Amino acid sequence: MLLVLAAPDSKDALQRELAVAFPLAQRELEPGLFACEPASESLPYLAYARQALPLALAVEAASIRAWAELIVDAVAGVLPDQKPWSLHVLPFRAVGEHTRMGARAWHSQGRAGARVSPGPEPAPTVGPNRCRLIRETVTELLAKRRRHLGRHLREQTRAFSADESLVQVLLTSLEHGFLSVAPAPLAYQQRHLVSHLPGGEQPLASDKQAPSRAFTKLVEAEVRLGRKIAGGESCVDLGAAPGSWTYVAVQRGARVTAVDRAELRADLLLHRRVRFQRGDAFRFEPEAPVDWLLCDVIAEAERTAELLLRWLENGWCRHFVVTLKVDDSGSVPLLESLKRELPRHTSELRLLRLSANKKEVCAFGERT
Ligand SMILES: C[S@@+](CC[C@H](N)C(=O)[O-])C[C@H]1O[C@@H](n2cnc3c(N)ncnc32)[C@H](O)[C@@H]1O
Repeated sequence: MLLVLAAPDSKDALQRELAVAFPLAQRELEPGLFACEPASESLPYLAYARQALPLALAVEAASIRAWAELIVDAVAGVLPDQKPWSLHVLPFRAVGEHTRMGARAWHSQGRAGARVSPGPEPAPTVGPNRCRLIRETVTELLAKRRRHLGRHLREQTRAFSADESLVQVLLTSLEHGFLSVAPAPLAYQQRHLVSHLPGGEQPLASDKQAPSRAFTKLVEAEVRLGRKIAGGESCVDLGAAPGSWTYVAVQRGARVTAVDRAELRADLLLHRRVRFQRGDAFRFEPEAPVDWLLCDVIAEAERTAELLLRWLENGWCRHFVVTLKVDDSGSVPLLESLKRELPRHTSELRLLRLSANKKEVCAFGERT
């Protein structure tokens, strides 16, 4: 069975997507946790999913030690020898609808000094300590019994390589949960849906110097993709004002052509690696292909989707990060057509609601 976890506030939207992808074979096990029966290993794009657990099994264990034993038994002889693997042990967190707070409330809480996260999330059913202890006990058992596996267990998360395996444990209660063992190269092959981030969660970046909070979207897309804008690369930033995506790009050492009807923040206008062009993002054409198309224009999602396809078809960019302003309930036809069209032009594609997105989905990746 494939388990799919909904992104915050996206349970209903994910259910609509799953109804298209698996019309007869999906059910909700817990709020925001869906079980599906895919017909093959080729999994669909699910924009409102936060994480997926392929080949998952319902399991139970009575103690921390018993959980660790269960995990070690499940990986021994199954994961390829002498190859890296990652272990994510997570508490299940129910996902409701509209649990996050809006940007204004978030900002005013921050001014009052009370902000700790972008929004109140439902409490997990199991504490993070239990998960940490299970992982530590797994490491101890491996050191005694399966040293070759222990040596290749990754401490840090990073984008999957083709030789990396992924083991996920999702605890729905102290004694119950799900175990997913994805031997290499499955996690890499399914990376459009299976995140290298535990639970698919990525805390929002913080930077008080950025012109606006929108910079968190671009930073999160880079982390999820496992590829940052690099020094010397060229970017076109459409709908750039007040300039926080441009700000991120120049911080990375890139050159930016920023296009907007409104002006950028003054320091960015003066930056030697920024060229500002006042005008319509939808009419802009680059003089030569660029490394990155960045696009965060407020416009109908259909128009932005056409713009992205035009850029890809014309070979005007290598990488892209594009915000699509979608209305959750009405977005199904557009997203389904993007799921068909975009893979034809891309070697790397994510179509996801980011933690930093609200009423938006982000398309990002690399052109073929
Ligand atoms: C969400 S803001 C972009 C924020 C920006 N990414 C940042 O991080 O600072 C959307 C921008 O799209 C611009 N915009 C909307 N329609 C546009 C168009 N047709 N051409 C150019 N800019 C447009 C708006 O002026 C606005 O500055």
